[in-house]
Amino acid sequence: MQLSDFTCKTIIEPFRIRSVEPITHTTMDYRRKKLKEAGYNPFLLKAEDVLIDLLTDSGTGAMSSKQWAGMLASDESYAGASSFYKFETAVKDITGFKHVIPTHQGRAAEHIIFNIIAGKGDVIPNNTHFDTTRAHIENSGAEALDMVISEGKKAQLVYPFKGNMDLNLLRSVVAERGSARIPLVMMTVTNNSGGGQPVSMENIREASEIARSSGIPFFLDACRFAENCWFIKLRENGYKEKSILDIAREMFSYADGCTMSAKKDGMANIGGFLALNDDNLAEKCRSLEILTEGFPTYGGMAGYDMEAIAQGIYEALDEGYLHYRIRSIEYLGEKLVAANVPIIRPTGGHALYIDAKDMLPHIPQLHYPAWSLTNALYILGGVRGVEIGSVMFGMQPDGTEKPAANELVRLAFPRRVYTQSHVDYLAEVVIESYDQRQKLSGYRIVHQNPVLRHFTATFEPLP
Ligand code: F0G
Repeated sequence: MQLSDFTCKTIIEPFRIRSVEPITHTTMDYRRKKLKEAGYNPFLLKAEDVLIDLLTDSGTGAMSSKQWAGMLASDESYAGASSFYKFETAVKDITGFKHVIPTHQGRAAEHIIFNIIAGKGDVIPNNTHFDTTRAHIENSGAEALDMVISEGKKAQLVYPFKGNMDLNLLRSVVAERGSARIPLVMMTVTNNSGGGQPVSMENIREASEIARSSGIPFFLDACRFAENCWFIKLRENGYKEKSILDIAREMFSYADGCTMSAKKDGMANIGGFLALNDDNLAEKCRSLEILTEGFPTYGGMAGYDMEAIAQGIYEALDEGYLHYRIRSIEYLGEKLVAANVPIIRPTGGHALYIDAKDMLPHIPQLHYPAWSLTNALYILGGVRGVEIGSVMFGMQPDGTEKPAANELVRLAFPRRVYTQSHVDYLAEVVIESYDQRQKLSGYRIVHQNPVLRHFTATFEPLP
């Protein structure tokens, strides 16, 4: 008798593992000691003392056999390397932009573009600026405006596109400040600092229309463009039958350029680019690139990095991979919600965000509740996350401090690195931190730098 059709419900990791990297179990006492030595700053821990490292999804992914094969066959010529042309062809094929300027990572692209187009008195709107984007804008003297929709600020509200920009606010900023003072409008897909939440195609199209109709260029911060396209396919009417590549092409067609960290949806360990259509602007960007990054056919990358991206950027569009990736994070989210742990809902593209303001109301914001929870996760389970709260965003350009809009702990998933049992372990650790939440206390900063202080500051636990 013929067997009936069967579709398995379990989503498996869509790869076999042929190269493994050991991870080390340590005791809670050992981790208490290591954290103290690191000035209570998880950025200052040694990676070997971390069991599950969710500090970032940036440059931490596993590469495919095809990427490694390309790396071996790379061309390391200073000028005109074939690896550059492969990289350029791939980026142009997906984004459609005329000029592709390689950079060593995303922030180098930001450095170049904002150095050239922004200055004192200018304002750059975005759904939510990532910290390096904000820092480059402020460094140029311009003002970085966050204008995500109000739904995007309600952590536990389930809404399909919480990364969308408030278009009425954009219209009024354009009307009030005038196009001469807005060198570009930016949209971050997915919205990292706002919870890894996606932006709808409709919102991208309309924001682009508002900008372009006033003669303002519209740029994407495209780090996680493939994940954003996956959410558009799942959640937005009219995209269910479209390929991720077609969705990506449509999304980029509304933009005049993008900055990109290839350490995310480029699936590479390092690299990035600035891509744009304007010939004059591209020329200026290339001049600065030569000064700060390198010749325009390598711009801070080795030939083998460009090979890894040329292959990886297509692998990021693979639906089997995107399904497994986004579902793993959602699966963790379901376990945490069932245990009443407050998280940003729905879960985002690359990360799960715990709402520490909600979980630890006994810790005032300027005693850094999300920092405290990050440290507790390390002590309890050797898990390293990152604070996105008042340590990261509380310092103002004038040197004063004010509470950030959110106090989040981000658990960002490296691409193709962890399996379902790692996720089950994580759920146990986070739930344990929730059960012991009354025992957590705040921190005070002992030493800090004025710019991007979270990377290097040292702390002391408050009693
Ligand atoms: N834009 C966004 C939205 C990002 O998430 C990042 C990096 C950058 C720009 C800068 O790119 O690191 O290659 O220079 N985000 C990492 C993170 C660091 O952990 O979220 P980069």
